[in-house]
Amino acid sequence: EKVTYPTIATLSEHEGETIILRGWLYNLRESGKLLFPIFRDGTGTIQGIVPKAAVAPEVFDRIKGLTLESSVIVTGKVRADSRAPSGFELDVQDLEIVQQVSAETPFPISLKEHGVDFLMEHRHLWVRTPRQSAILRVRATIMRAAAEYFDTNGFTRTDPPILTPNACEGTSELFEMDYFDDGKAYLTQSGQLYIEATALALGKVYSFGPTFRAEKSKTRRHLTEFWMIEPEVAYIELDGLMELAENFISHIVARVLEGHRADLKVIGRDVTKLETIKAPFPKISYDEAAAMLAEAFKEGKIENEFVYGNDFGSPDETYISSQFDRPVMVHRYPAAFKAFYMQPDPLDPTKALCVDVLAPEGYGEIIGGSQRIDSYDLLKSRIEEHHLPLDAFQWYLDLRRYGSVPHAGFGMGIERAVAWICGLDHVRETIPFARTLNRIYP
Ligand code: 4AD
Ligand code: MG
Repeated sequence: EKVTYPTIATLSEHEGETIILRGWLYNLRESGKLLFPIFRDGTGTIQGIVPKAAVAPEVFDRIKGLTLESSVIVTGKVRADSRAPSGFELDVQDLEIVQQVSAETPFPISLKEHGVDFLMEHRHLWVRTPRQSAILRVRATIMRAAAEYFDTNGFTRTDPPILTPNACEGTSELFEMDYFDDGKAYLTQSGQLYIEATALALGKVYSFGPTFRAEKSKTRRHLTEFWMIEPEVAYIELDGLMELAENFISHIVARVLEGHRADLKVIGRDVTKLETIKAPFPKISYDEAAAMLAEAFKEGKIENEFVYGNDFGSPDETYISSQFDRPVMVHRYPAAFKAFYMQPDPLDPTKALCVDVLAPEGYGEIIGGSQRIDSYDLLKSRIEEHHLPLDAFQWYLDLRRYGSVPHAGFGMGIERAVAWICGLDHVRETIPFARTLNRIYP
C-alpha cells in the first residue's frame, strides 16, 4: 500500500489512504479500551481512534496516558466521518514518539481558561493552540494580500530604513538610541518620509515593515512594535488616495474570505460582517462626523459630549463607525492636531487633506493617510512650527526643491487590520510576539 505524508489541511484528498502524520498530541480522551487522541500538525487538527483490539499492545500502551504536546509520528487510515469537525477521522495503526513531554512538567496551556497574563507569559506555547494558529494564518494572508494588491497594481516596493534621524509622527513616542559619533537615531515610526522620496523616483511605491512607537498608554489598539504597509503615489490627491484605500481593503477582505472560512470559524468570527466589505466605502468629513456626534449626544446615544476641534476619542470612533456596515473614511480633520507634513485644504486651510479609515464594529482607525505638502516654503515653516530639527529634514525639503508634485499616501497597521478582520478584542493576539508598554518577554 502506498504511504504518503499529507498535511491535515489536505486530508480530504486522501480518504481511504494510509498516511503518516508528523505532529503533536493536542488532546487525549480515554474510555476503557478506546483512545481518542487528537493530533495537530500546524495545518489543523484531526481526531484519531485507537481501539485496543485493533493495534499492537505496545502501540496502545504508548498512546494511553501520553502527555499533551508530545511530538509524534502517526500512521493511520483516513476515514470520512460526518460528525468530525474536519469531516475526517484517523484509524490509528502505529505511533512513534519523537519527544515525550515529562509528566513532571506538563504542557502549561491546558484546555481550560487561562488569564491573559498567564497566556502572554507563555506566548511561545500559546501560539500552538488552534485559535491562535488560525489567527496567525489569517495574519499571513492579510500581509500577503496587502503586498499583492500593490505588486499587481504597478507599485514598486522600496524599503525605508529602520534607523532614522527623523521623527515622522511627533516626537513624544520615539525610541531613541545613540548612533556613534553622529549623535541620536530613532527607530522609525513610519516609512513615509523615505517613500515620498522613492515615489518621486518611481511614481507608485510602497513600503512594508516593522515600525515603532513608544506608546506609554495601555489600550487594546496599541503596540510598541507593529507592522505597517504604506503606499505613496506621485500625482494623486486626496480623492485618489481614498479610492486606493477602499480598493486595497476590499481586496484584502476578499482574499481572507476566499482562503480562511475554516480558520474564521475556529476564531469565532461572524463572516456575514465581512461579506459586506466591498468598495465604495462611505466618506464623510470631520465636520460631518462631529455633527453626527453632537446629534447623538443630544439624543442621549453617547455619554460624552464631543468638543468640536478635538481629535476623536475611541468611544467617538466607535459611535461613528457603528453607523455603517463597512469601513468609513473620515477626511479633512483640523490641521492643528495632525502631522506637520499634511497639505492644507485650499477651501479651508485650517483643515488638512487627510483621511482616517475607521473599521466597523468599534475597531476604529486602521488606516491614516494624507496628501503631502508640496510647497517648499510651507513645509519649511511647518517643520519650524513643530520644533523639528531643520538639519535632519534637509533631505526631505529637497523633495520640494527638485520637481515637487502633489502626492499622497497612507499607512495601514497590520495588527489593527487583523484585529478587525478576525474580530479580536485586543491587538496582542494579532502578532506572534506582541510588544507593549509592560511586556517584552518572551
Ligand atoms: O495614523 P498613523 O500614525 O500614520 C502614519 O504613520 C503615516 N505616516 C502613514 C502614512 O501616511 N504613510 O499610523 C498609521 C496606522 C494607523 O492607522 C494604525 O493602523 C497603525 O498605523 N498604528 C498602530 N498600530 C498598532 N499600534 C500602534 N501603536 C499604532 N500606531 C499606529
Ligand atoms: Mg493616525
